[in-house]
Amino acid sequence: MADTAAMNYDIKDRSLADAGHRRISWAAREMPVIRMIRERFQQDKPLAGVRIVACVHVTTETANLALTLRDGGADAVVCASNPLSTQDDVAAALVDEGIPVFAIKGEDNETYYRHINAAIDHKPNIVIDDGADVVSALHRERRDDLAEMFGATEETTTGVVRMRAMEAQGVLEFPVIAVNDADTKHFFDNRYGTGQSTMDGILRATNMLIAGKVVVVAGYGWCGKGIAMRGRGLGGRVLVTEIDPVKALEAAMDGFEVVPMETAAGVGDIFITATGNINVIDRDDFESMKDGAIVANAGHFNSEINIAALEEMAGEGRRELRPFVEEFQVSSNHSVVVLGDGRLINLAAAEGHPASVMDMSFANQALACSYLAEHRQELERRVYNVPTEIDHEIARLKLASMAVEIDVLTDEQREYLESWEHGT
Ligand code: ADE
Repeated sequence: MADTAAMNYDIKDRSLADAGHRRISWAAREMPVIRMIRERFQQDKPLAGVRIVACVHVTTETANLALTLRDGGADAVVCASNPLSTQDDVAAALVDEGIPVFAIKGEDNETYYRHINAAIDHKPNIVIDDGADVVSALHRERRDDLAEMFGATEETTTGVVRMRAMEAQGVLEFPVIAVNDADTKHFFDNRYGTGQSTMDGILRATNMLIAGKVVVVAGYGWCGKGIAMRGRGLGGRVLVTEIDPVKALEAAMDGFEVVPMETAAGVGDIFITATGNINVIDRDDFESMKDGAIVANAGHFNSEINIAALEEMAGEGRRELRPFVEEFQVSSNHSVVVLGDGRLINLAAAEGHPASVMDMSFANQALACSYLAEHRQELERRVYNVPTEIDHEIARLKLASMAVEIDVLTDEQREYLESWEHGT
């Protein structure tokens, strides 16, 4: 155990650490790629002396990333990227390991931002962001702390959208690596991770049977695709709503019924949002819902379901039925049930994505940090993709860990692909 006497941190309870250590080691078994990178980092120390703030969901998987960064020589601190997603035993275990954490499950908004500012007090060179809250705070209120920044990495679609908007407006002050956009991240984490863990969150919160239910999935991006796939796998009749014609077409050809939310509202039993937008389920939708309809969110922010409208409609008529399940009486003859306050249901009511997919996401994070440290002189104030060599290396390591072998191009095939003269 590290000497933590002088360490500044804010967590729920240090005595939870033992359970945290055991659960972190359980996740590590499913994270072979991050394990290999950790071993490499222990030798090469690519992050020696680099101060890193990781603003992420504080889970067993994140702990394995934080330990990898530390073993690579980084001076890392962790804060929560969502007020409801922290696993308090993991936070305690990380503090035990000498990594300061500022995160408590269920913290209010004020504490959430206080924790972000406490992490920024660490004067980061690199920020690992999940939703762009730290990058946004650095650009808005903490501009004096920009000077020491090498750059940031961004974990999620919502954060990448925000950072690309900053780049387009010419206000981005340091390079950003869009980890979310790596193939080994979003093809797997966003699709299979969100798909499985969202259904896991809904099942743990409600213990309901999905078979035979009408499941409405709002948004057919990578997350929506995964949720629709797993909703169907559990026997749900899945409807998809979209605003993008190409994604709508894809959903239709994947065999889902595509309808406007206005139509879906009256027929759905369970609604799941994954759009990255606001008020996707709004007052008029609540008005036409069936009695007892359930709404849950799988997108980064809790703005996809208009909870303020629901609160107004229900007034005093609301009650918690069980943890993460709250009923709003919206008219004399019907109520709407909200799961997990409209926050990411997979992290609020369950444990987030399984370790096996976070393995690749966090391998991208670790290697992107090392890349930022190595190339900090050359990089511009832009949003970069993860270099293809890193993406492919992670895919190769993951395949090797699964004992899956693939073919190699022959010289003749390589020459064929590189030429344009060959016809039929
Ligand atoms: N985002 C989604 N699932 C996660 C997990 N298990 N750990 C960290 N971030 C996540």
